[in-house]
Amino acid sequence: MAGNVWEIINMNVGGTLIAGPATGPLKGDIVVPGDKSMSHRSVMLASLADGVTEVHGFLPGEDNISTAQMFIDMGVKIEWLNDEKTSLRIHGVGLHGLKAPVGVLDAGNAGTCVRLMTGVLAGQEFASMITGDASLCKRPMKRVVEPVRRMGAQVDGADGGNMLPITISGGKLKAIHHVSEVASAQVKSCVLLAGLYADGVTTVIEPKPTRDHTERMLPLFGQPVDVADDGTISLTPRDQLTAPEHAVHIPADPSSACFFAVAASLVEGSDITLKSIGINARRDGWRRVMHGMGANVTLLNESMVGKEPVADVRVTSGGLHALLVDPNDVPDAIDEFPVIFAAASLADGEFILQDAEELRVKESDRIAVMADALCAAGADIEEKPDGAVIQGLASLAGDADVDAHGDHRIAMAMAVAAQRAQGEIRIHNAAAIATSFPNFVSLAQSIGMNVRWADEGASKGE
Ligand code: S3P
Repeated sequence: MAGNVWEIINMNVGGTLIAGPATGPLKGDIVVPGDKSMSHRSVMLASLADGVTEVHGFLPGEDNISTAQMFIDMGVKIEWLNDEKTSLRIHGVGLHGLKAPVGVLDAGNAGTCVRLMTGVLAGQEFASMITGDASLCKRPMKRVVEPVRRMGAQVDGADGGNMLPITISGGKLKAIHHVSEVASAQVKSCVLLAGLYADGVTTVIEPKPTRDHTERMLPLFGQPVDVADDGTISLTPRDQLTAPEHAVHIPADPSSACFFAVAASLVEGSDITLKSIGINARRDGWRRVMHGMGANVTLLNESMVGKEPVADVRVTSGGLHALLVDPNDVPDAIDEFPVIFAAASLADGEFILQDAEELRVKESDRIAVMADALCAAGADIEEKPDGAVIQGLASLAGDADVDAHGDHRIAMAMAVAAQRAQGEIRIHNAAAIATSFPNFVSLAQSIGMNVRWADEGASKGE
């Protein structure tokens, strides 16, 4: 059963999803939206570059719009090239061309936005204040505030600068060697972005390797990043980013694809193909975990989109079984554990996840919130400080009301779990799906998933 040891923040964002049970096998090809992590980085680097950059495959989720809005607030001209807001033209102002924002910069629900922007703002000659929604204001910022302070920026805020809102005043920074305590691409990227404004070589070392999109994308803008054999990442600033000659193309987001991959594994007779999904090893932990659980996941048509490997991913239903998750796969699947918990609740045997305490400081405490929601739906989960032990069942009872606590990935994971429930699951505070996957429900319906908005008004962007 779920314990109540950890505090769960109430996030009343509204929106109720009614999901499950599946009425038949899931079938078809599906194109999920662009990668959220890369979309953030594309706007940041293009805004800070000299010249004009076109980006295609951009994710128009609320999180990424927050990042774009921040740069607009600091004087960058961004043109949307289509109504879907997946293609944009960014008129970069150069590393030193941002203007002081008139008001407070608002990251909304987006941890990646605020943490990476801390690095960017640390390098600006002007002071700025940055905040976020109720969930983001409870998430730890010390992990990025501490290194930029060591680089010479002044950061003030509640709890010694650990909590938003924070004010940042910076300018020319000192290069540092940063040994990160947490395996976090947000921390690494913050330090590398601040390193663009430093007086020498900035280096970062992490306890386990994390997603490397910043390292892959910076060279597209003329800024090399070196990775040594021991994993040390170093950036020697060129004091200039240059718009790439060709447009930046963003592959489809594996974190979004994973919801449908799990759903197809769970619903008997399913056969779906997820088109052109990012398969970068640092994002591919979900596929290794699913493979370890016996899922039928195959790659087709492998190719490259810019510096990122992609493939079509075919998933057919089939016998999921128990797994002790390899701790090395944890950072590479960190965003997929809510839906992996759903898979484990319906797999054969005991699933164990350890070494994943970072899940407690995501958009919600994802261990506690998933355990509560899955238990309410009839699953058997024991919460652990750093993970969970899950006994798989043939189906969930369902006929339950669960709370996604304004966490997009909890809402979508529960919609997937509901496909193998005996009765429907009503998922409240689910409107946050719009932060990362605005058309989740319509795409889910297109392959036959049984999911709909209770109130059409909540279906922002569908
Ligand atoms: C992200 C890094 C991860 C991930 C988040 C996106 C990024 O966070 O959970 O959704 O784009 O750098 P951490 O760096 O905190 O693990």
